[in-house]
Amino acid sequence: MIFEHPLGGRMPPDACFLQAALMEAGDGDYLEVGVYNGDSLLFAGLVKRALGHTGKLYGIDIDETKQMLIEETLAFHNIEAEVVYKSSNPWPLPDVRPVVCYIDGSHSYDGVSADWNNLKGRAGKFIVMHDYTCNEHVTKFIDGLIKAPDPNWRFCGYSRYTVVWERNVGQEYRGRFREE
Ligand SMILES: C[S@@+](CC[C@H](N)C(=O)[O-])C[C@H]1O[C@@H](n2cnc3c(N)ncnc32)[C@H](O)[C@@H]1O
Repeated sequence: MIFEHPLGGRMPPDACFLQAALMEAGDGDYLEVGVYNGDSLLFAGLVKRALGHTGKLYGIDIDETKQMLIEETLAFHNIEAEVVYKSSNPWPLPDVRPVVCYIDGSHSYDGVSADWNNLKGRAGKFIVMHDYTCNEHVTKFIDGLIKAPDPNWRFCGYSRYTVVWERNVGQEYRGRFREE
């Protein structure tokens, strides 16, 4: 059964796919583009803590008016994160190499394309993208990527609005998303 989230999106499939990527990735940093109120950043932090995985949380958002709310939300749950209040393009965190990246920032074609291009060389294991099938620009970009995939990235599948890509690491590796 699919539950409609009152703020939009559909739970739990979106959260399940992000959680699965975090579980599979193990230790390492998490970065998301598009923090908004801090809900998905908080979710990622809670999942990593529950799993006992090490790694820092990073967020990037162009809207600095949400800073206090994000800080309060994270502090309430004792989750630490570094949130940069800048556009994701040009890329503001050149030295960060997260194992999982979550793209949920600009939903224009050029915006999501820039985020993918900025992260495909930096993400270690998974890139998770939101708003597939519910936003025409995001959908157009992801459909193009599925038809002409980046050789370093494998399309794992999608659950409603959330798409998961896994870095190709060789034939011998079999992740949880991979079909037998
Ligand atoms: C859909 S909301 C993110 C929701 C959040 N990931 C969650 O699930 O809780 C999109 C966010 O992307 C931010 N955004 C839009 N364009 C951006 C850009 N170029 N760089 C960084 N953030 C951007 C917006 O300010 C907004 O807060």
